[in-house]
Amino acid sequence: MRVVDLDRDMRDVIPTGTTRDSEFLFARMTGETLAAARPGPGKRVLDVASGLGQDAAALAERGAITIAAEPSSRMSELARLSVSQQGGVLTHWVRSWSDMLPFADDRFDAVICKGALDHFDRPSAAIAEIARVTKPAGTAVLAIANFDSLSCRVGRALDVAREGWFRRPTPAGRRGYDVPHDHFTRYELPLMREQAERSLVLDHVVGVSLGWGLPKWAQLLESLPEGAAQTLLSGLDWLAARAPSLADVVILAGRPRQRATTSA
Ligand SMILES: C[S@@+](CC[C@H](N)C(=O)[O-])C[C@H]1O[C@@H](n2cnc3c(N)ncnc32)[C@H](O)[C@@H]1O
Repeated sequence: MRVVDLDRDMRDVIPTGTTRDSEFLFARMTGETLAAARPGPGKRVLDVASGLGQDAAALAERGAITIAAEPSSRMSELARLSVSQQGGVLTHWVRSWSDMLPFADDRFDAVICKGALDHFDRPSAAIAEIARVTKPAGTAVLAIANFDSLSCRVGRALDVAREGWFRRPTPAGRRGYDVPHDHFTRYELPLMREQAERSLVLDHVVGVSLGWGLPKWAQLLESLPEGAAQTLLSGLDWLAARAPSLADVVILAGRPRQRATTSA
């Protein structure tokens, strides 16, 4: 039996860009995810674990016939409210788990799942479902936080050095490289690939942003002139795109692996 809170309000786990590095990261993550879905007029696009529905609304604004699937009724209500208040174009809302999508095979030109796979108790089953409902020539897009990023590695090494060399205890509380309590999986690139490739043939694996969460990083960026901060963030993002194992977030996209057909 699955015991879950279907009225859960997860606004607190959807980070908002309050600092330059956060704003940059979330804008790039969203931009890459939506671009990989190639939305356009008449395209059918599904957003799995749509949360507050901002990505589904953006896809619909680009002309796609968009369905937002989300199990939490509270999140869906908030999403409906905010999209209607902003005068957003029509999105269809469906209450659904990611691993039991209520759609026929091959229904969508694109399916996105952003910032959510690590919240799922059955991520591989969810990716299999995402692949099942994606058309054979369609695209499935997964955007996943990397807990083996350069920032996580440096943060961990600094804590080890502090304890080992300086005999000073690591500060209490969750460290940036620790997985939050509401995550089921600690993702790093090999695990992302392994899970995704069971159901998808990947043709696009790109890293987004480098350095997010490094000690004093946000403060350093705030102290720089706007142009210099953006140049630095963009330069690191260029590196992240080429070295996804070090990036803060990884976008993986591909088409469904061919399903075995059953003959009568
Ligand atoms: C961090 S939010 C991300 C929401 C949105 N994709 C975004 O980028 O803003 C994670 C979402 O996953 C949903 N979720 C958690 N477990 C789920 C599951 N097993 N199946 C589908 N959605 C789930 C939560 O309700 C929540 O809305």
